[in-house]
Amino acid sequence: MARQTVRRAPEADLYKQSVARLITETSAREDPVLTRILFQYLGWAAFWLVVGTLAGGIVALKFRFPDFLDLPFLSFGRLRAIHTNTVFWGWTSLAMMGLALYAVPRASKTELYSVKLAKIALWLWNVMVLMGTLALASGINNGNQEYREYVWPLALLFAASLLLHVINFYNTIARRKMKEIYISNWYILSAFLWTLVLATIAYLPWYQRGLGQTIIQGYYMHQGVGMWFTPTVVGLTYYFLPLFLNRPIYSYALGVLGFWTQLVFYTIIGTHHFIFSPIPWLLQTIAIVFSVGMMVPVWAGTGNFLLTMKGIGGLIRRSYSLPFILVGVISYGLASTQGTLEAFRTANLTWHFTNFTVGHAHFTMYGFVAFLIWGGIYGLLPRLTGKEPPVKAVGVHFWMSTVGMAIYVASLSVGGTLQGLLWSAQKPFLESVVAMAPHWLWRAVGGMLMILGHLVFAYNLYHMRPAARSTVEARSGREQ
Ligand code: HEM
Ligand code: HEM
Repeated sequence: MARQTVRRAPEADLYKQSVARLITETSAREDPVLTRILFQYLGWAAFWLVVGTLAGGIVALKFRFPDFLDLPFLSFGRLRAIHTNTVFWGWTSLAMMGLALYAVPRASKTELYSVKLAKIALWLWNVMVLMGTLALASGINNGNQEYREYVWPLALLFAASLLLHVINFYNTIARRKMKEIYISNWYILSAFLWTLVLATIAYLPWYQRGLGQTIIQGYYMHQGVGMWFTPTVVGLTYYFLPLFLNRPIYSYALGVLGFWTQLVFYTIIGTHHFIFSPIPWLLQTIAIVFSVGMMVPVWAGTGNFLLTMKGIGGLIRRSYSLPFILVGVISYGLASTQGTLEAFRTANLTWHFTNFTVGHAHFTMYGFVAFLIWGGIYGLLPRLTGKEPPVKAVGVHFWMSTVGMAIYVASLSVGGTLQGLLWSAQKPFLESVVAMAPHWLWRAVGGMLMILGHLVFAYNLYHMRPAARSTVEARSGREQ
């Protein structure tokens, strides 16, 4: 009897096809009300980006010219915290939230549960950043605990806004018009849930005395970057990359692997910020081992995105968004690998406390997170509003940010290593300050390029603005 060879499409292929269909179908039908609220999030994010990085620029100049702008509210201590909090919460978070307000319903083939909730959440968040910035400038803060310097009443606004987003996204996903929950929504909804837990743990006071505070600080700091910024922006890229390329993601399974290993490994590596501190040695060792484990989700994600982009050489020169996404994905892989190396005791001995870590912070938060956000914005907004940014200005933004970041990271990586070597050789501290002087100047030069790039980005964003409110209301009967 002749052998029957019936080829059945494996589950994964069917899934890929359904996702490919989802992406092409949903991009055809847009909602002007959603576009407007998304643009409000992005507009405020751009505003805080400019404010926050101007503050960073002044801080950078103070390293080289300590008497520059010698006023209490512009002092190093206050301005540094203004810089980090504004770029974390004002820029990065608002931009990610705005893009998620589009990606979550679209990846669920449905409408956003409530535009009103999104609006309230935006204003709670904005009030928090504004009050936080004014409080920090006036010297009112939550102590020396990095990235949680805002006083606790503002943390309530933070939590309330996150909770509104969780309600909004949960209900949107629950009403999805497809069986599966697409991988981007796994990452995004989880990131909001994890961060809600994180904010609670970070602000509850009773276990935060002495070393308890240090352990919580390490936990908070790395969960902030690892369970908020990273999964949200990776989730967004799982939605945007296939949408912009009009092809399915290379491997759905790699996305799932990345998700679960991120959850297992990232949650326990906070102590790698305090290697050689009086924190239990075993806890430090676990953090180092799991920092190595982090290579699994990092390269699952990086590899998956790069393989999805395979063969786009010709397209990349004609696209606003793909160059940003490519830099973002490459930075994700390289900068995270740099972080894993930094966690080893032998390397940490030299690099800890030095400016090398500041270089790593910008390679990741800027090269990885900010670039992927820009890729999402430049790819999405012209589709929604029908307005394109000036091509040359997008190129100027791309090159200023890329070259600026490269100078920033290179100067601090070289300078930071030098600093560590001089300290290890027990040289007088002042010698390391003198050795760093040219590197700090180069960092300021790179930083200035980045800041100019942000002004150009704000200009480009203005060019992609949606139609005026009256036109939107006329076209749509939806809740405003
Ligand atoms: C495999 C992944 C990663 C590992 C193992 C890792 C490891 C590290 C280590 C060991 C430090 C502390 C260095 C020291 O103080 O001696 C550090 C600092 C830092 N990392 Fe990473 N990193 C990773 C990925 C990322 C990502 C993706 C981001 C951003 C989204 C990020 C943002 C930061 C920031 C902001 C700091 C500075 C924290 C501070 O203020 O001290 N890292 N990282
Ligand atoms: C989206 C843009 C940016 C993000 C997300 C960002 C993020 C950060 C973070 C996380 C830190 C703390 C690093 C650590 O403690 O290890 C930091 C510090 C700093 N950043 Fe930025 N940054 C951005 C852009 C800039 C720009 C354009 C400049 C301009 C020069 C700048 C200058 C500085 C300076 C001077 C510090 C203090 C470093 C120190 O205390 O040694 N940043 N930034």
